[in-house]
Amino acid sequence: MAPSRILVTGGAGFIGSTVIATLLKKSSTQAVLNFDALTYAGNLLSLQEEAKDPRYTFQRASVQNLEEVQRALEDFQPDCILHLAAETHVDRSLNHPQTFLETNVLGTGILLQATSAYWESLPLEKADAFRFLHVSTDEVFGSLGDSGQFHQDSPYAPTSPYSASKSAADHLVRSWEKSFGLPCIITHGSNCYGPKQFPEKLIPLMILQALNGDSLPVYGDGQQIRDWIYVQDQADAIYQAACLGKPGGTYFTGGSQEQTNLLVVETLCRTLEEIGPFVESGFYKKKIKFVQDRPGHDYRYSMDCRKTQLDLDWKPHYAFADGLRETVRWYLNNPAWVKSIQTGEYRQWMDENYGWR
Ligand code: NAD
Ligand code: DAU
Repeated sequence: MAPSRILVTGGAGFIGSTVIATLLKKSSTQAVLNFDALTYAGNLLSLQEEAKDPRYTFQRASVQNLEEVQRALEDFQPDCILHLAAETHVDRSLNHPQTFLETNVLGTGILLQATSAYWESLPLEKADAFRFLHVSTDEVFGSLGDSGQFHQDSPYAPTSPYSASKSAADHLVRSWEKSFGLPCIITHGSNCYGPKQFPEKLIPLMILQALNGDSLPVYGDGQQIRDWIYVQDQADAIYQAACLGKPGGTYFTGGSQEQTNLLVVETLCRTLEEIGPFVESGFYKKKIKFVQDRPGHDYRYSMDCRKTQLDLDWKPHYAFADGLRETVRWYLNNPAWVKSIQTGEYRQWMDENYGWR
């Protein structure tokens, strides 16, 4: 059943903002509450159009604050929670693990605690229809070799503080479901790309470095493999899981488009040459620089998404080259958004890590 009053945590982030735009396109959506702490990764400029919709409201608050979560639930009376709020960057988790524990583990626990009390207070019919959807990642299953795929019953084997904190959050979700009966769904997404992604992640980082004439830092030999999914496809999958997912269900929302990091960056260089400002042929490719590898760098992720595609009546639509073109075009056409994150913490982080002209 389509949810109608949806509380989205982390709605000012990359995937969350596209999820909110997607929800507001549905006539069944009566109200959306964006519950977001606005960390460095949250940006309200990503929701300028959506903010004009009378069904949309924003509350700046943290999932770590029990009272704020309780108040939001009581005031808003959601029939569905989409939990996306998280610290999400693996490299940051290596340097500053504590915030990952606080947000991803403690924050998820507090959100569950408040949600289950709220859910228990609902009349039977509303309690039956209620869903708590937790957005997790393929990284919780660890790293694969050249062959094989993760399956719904693959064991957890996280390798970074980020993936360990997401794994802990998954376990908390399952424990609330088992102990208290809270109707929970978990989606495991693969590497997402598209407009409005904070440029610490591979694709937006490379786009802005390239447009600035800076080097393109590929970790190690660039042969690690990720499975890429365009953000609209990911948002559609999350929506379908909220509508059709079964309590206790685990859904693999991957793009089924595996590529090495080096190939991704080379394709990006060609796309920029085609649709970006005029440069001589091969200009961007010459900027690729192999730099020190990420510690504990996972080699490959890959999920078998066939069951999810059947269960959720969903499949990704964007071919990687098309999604990449859309993404590059968006960054070229949205200088105000780019400028908003090139100040403050983003700038400092860039200065410390790669230098910024
Ligand atoms: P993001 O980093 O772009 O945004 C995270 C959002 O959460 C920001 O708006 C931030 O302000 C908010 N937030 C952080 N701490 C908060 C707190 N304590 N309380 C409330 N809000 C808080 O993240 P994203 O890339 O959009 O990822 C969204 C979710 O999807 C995450 O749970 C992530 O683990 C998961 N995921 C992401 C990817 C990907 O490739 N980006 C893939 C699979 C799964
Ligand atoms: O797999 C899903 C996960 O994908 C999500 O759960 C995470 O939130 C998201 O950040 C992403 O994790 P990755 O570590 O795979 O994404 P990132 O964009 O940081 O890196 C992608 C690959 O590119 C990875 O193998 C590391 C490499 N890389 C990354 C950066 C930032 C580089 O070679 N150079 C870089 O500068």
